[in-house]
Amino acid sequence: MPDPAAARAAELRRVLTRAMHAYYVLDAPEMSDAEYDRLFRELQALEREHPDLTTPDSPTLRVGAEPATALVKHAHLAPMLSLANAFSDDDLREWQERNARVAPDVVGAGYNLEVKIDGAAVNLTYRDGVLAVGATRGNGVVGEVVTANLRTVPDIPLRLQGNGWPAVLEVRGECYMPRAAFEALNRKRVAAGEPPFANPRNAAAGGLRQLDSRLTRERGLRFFAFAAFAPPGAGRLPFGTQVELLQGLTAWGFRVEPHHRRVADLPGAMAAVAELEPLLDGLPFGADGVVVKVDRLALHEELGNVGDREPRWAVARKFAPEVAVTKLLDIKVNVGRTGALNPYATLEPVEIGGVTVSTATLHNADLIAAKDIRIGDWVEVTRAGEVIPQVLGPVRERRAELEAAGTPPRPFTMPTRCPACGSEVEAPPDEVMSYCPNVSCPSRVHEGIFHFASRGAMDIRGLGYERVRQLLDAGLIHDAADLYGLQTLPLVALDGFGEKSAAQLITAVAASKAQPLSRLLFALGIRRVGDGAAELLARRFGTMAALRDASPEVIAEVRGIGPTIAAGVAAFFREERNRDLLRRLEAAGLRMDEPVKVTAGGVFDGQTFVLTGTLTALSRAEATRLIEQAGGAVTGSVSKKTAAMVAGSEPGSKLEKAKALGIPVWDEAELLRRLGR
Ligand code: IVH
Repeated sequence: MPDPAAARAAELRRVLTRAMHAYYVLDAPEMSDAEYDRLFRELQALEREHPDLTTPDSPTLRVGAEPATALVKHAHLAPMLSLANAFSDDDLREWQERNARVAPDVVGAGYNLEVKIDGAAVNLTYRDGVLAVGATRGNGVVGEVVTANLRTVPDIPLRLQGNGWPAVLEVRGECYMPRAAFEALNRKRVAAGEPPFANPRNAAAGGLRQLDSRLTRERGLRFFAFAAFAPPGAGRLPFGTQVELLQGLTAWGFRVEPHHRRVADLPGAMAAVAELEPLLDGLPFGADGVVVKVDRLALHEELGNVGDREPRWAVARKFAPEVAVTKLLDIKVNVGRTGALNPYATLEPVEIGGVTVSTATLHNADLIAAKDIRIGDWVEVTRAGEVIPQVLGPVRERRAELEAAGTPPRPFTMPTRCPACGSEVEAPPDEVMSYCPNVSCPSRVHEGIFHFASRGAMDIRGLGYERVRQLLDAGLIHDAADLYGLQTLPLVALDGFGEKSAAQLITAVAASKAQPLSRLLFALGIRRVGDGAAELLARRFGTMAALRDASPEVIAEVRGIGPTIAAGVAAFFREERNRDLLRRLEAAGLRMDEPVKVTAGGVFDGQTFVLTGTLTALSRAEATRLIEQAGGAVTGSVSKKTAAMVAGSEPGSKLEKAKALGIPVWDEAELLRRLGR
């Protein structure tokens, strides 16, 4: 005769499980809360009376268990992989091309697109249809057992529905915290004087790892399933495609994010991505992209994984957010090559446009004060294109939170001594920057050489920031000119250098000798001479010697070069230590002139000119170079073919000849005007 208590318990479990599924998974409640509570309490009472009636799939387990003392490790049957990113249609195209080289059939075989849920990945192991282990992703190979915690998540089935599942089944998906729950939680935390969570993902991951599952339950976590896996020997999954897999998961009682859709090919995927993107922000949970998956599961096997990290068959199409909010942990000061003290932010790492940002520039103290950016603030950070990340400003509305938490942000003050060498800082009254005046300041020297070698300057490959520091620390170099005397042996003695890398560095250094004057001028780090000004100066003067010997007035006449830059340039060349550096660079064999770029289609294409008299803004050589650059030529004698004569003061007899032939005569200003300068 069947035990009536056992039969009733089984009936209650069935009814309550069904109600749970209807409410949380199907979003179609079929029982009132009061009725649910009544039946739930009845089951709890029965289980208390007959503890042996409690089964591992009982809905009563969802309230949470006794706190664990530690989290136990769990080895995943197959590694939990992460996803490669694609930030554009081009990236998607390349992804398909790469795949087609491995499995040509992917082209046109169809893709399934799914919302990428921003939560914490979990792995659920079902044995004979009952949830046996729930684990976090951990490092992808080994995670932590959080079964009791996962039982509190209402849309994770404790027992699979339907049929067709293998004896052992791993279901993977994302545990997440709905936006509303996240915001409510943060309000509560702030009111209780606790720090709020930076994002729903952290709140979800933290919730999962609680030792006390009742605390997990309070987080209100939810679950979407998106993958399933059967270990060898446990039976095969009865699906041929990802779409079928999602349908199967639904039939087994899981919730699947509803926006998934199948497309026939890559153009279809791109169009669907464009339609899905604007929806993401409006979803009731955090979504950080769209996952594009090869639909046919047989192709997943054929494509395999990149290492043990990422499957080839799926890619996360991400939409670079221009601006992210994060915590400003501290404001530090870096001493640049010119001695300028550059304040910068250290940030709680945040992803902006697919790149993790942990530092950002703050420009100068005035700007920090003007924007009222304080240490400890929540700040908006942007990273547009190639530009260095910048702090846009504080999120003032969140200051109350910080104050309530007992961590009010504090204002920043510029140090009065150089943080690198201790010299007293100079703050010129007409400038926003403060400077370390010590030309031998180790930070200035380091930054100066790093700049010299950098991409836009001498472009010495393999000579990065840390390498420069290493060479300085080892005493192998003291300034940029020392680079050209580097020898293999002492390099090989350094950490991280081998014969090969030492030889490569020496070759790269030697190759930089051929850089044109414009690069060298920029590389020297003359105050206010950026790559643009360097280019103008090099084109106009042609040689280092011509520029070195030019007066500030002459330099200032170069269009685009004002008196301030000109004064700085002249001052640079007056300084004996700079002249010495230049002599050593020249002796090392560096190129000291600018090649003439004859631009096809220049304004003087195919025309000949004659110069006479003394020019003032330009030397003859410079005028010649400029004319040549514009496609023209300069000759010594006037003929009918001469396009124009450029006459300075005290012209010679050539002027009369030109006039006699009816050839136009220009002054220097006219020449420059025609050259567009
Ligand atoms: S498929 C084998 N589909 O994104 C790789 N992942 O950045 C399985 N994620 O660890 C990933 N939504 O936790 C897949 N619809 C979705 C997803 C999704 C969120 C997470 C997943 C993964 C991470 C990779």
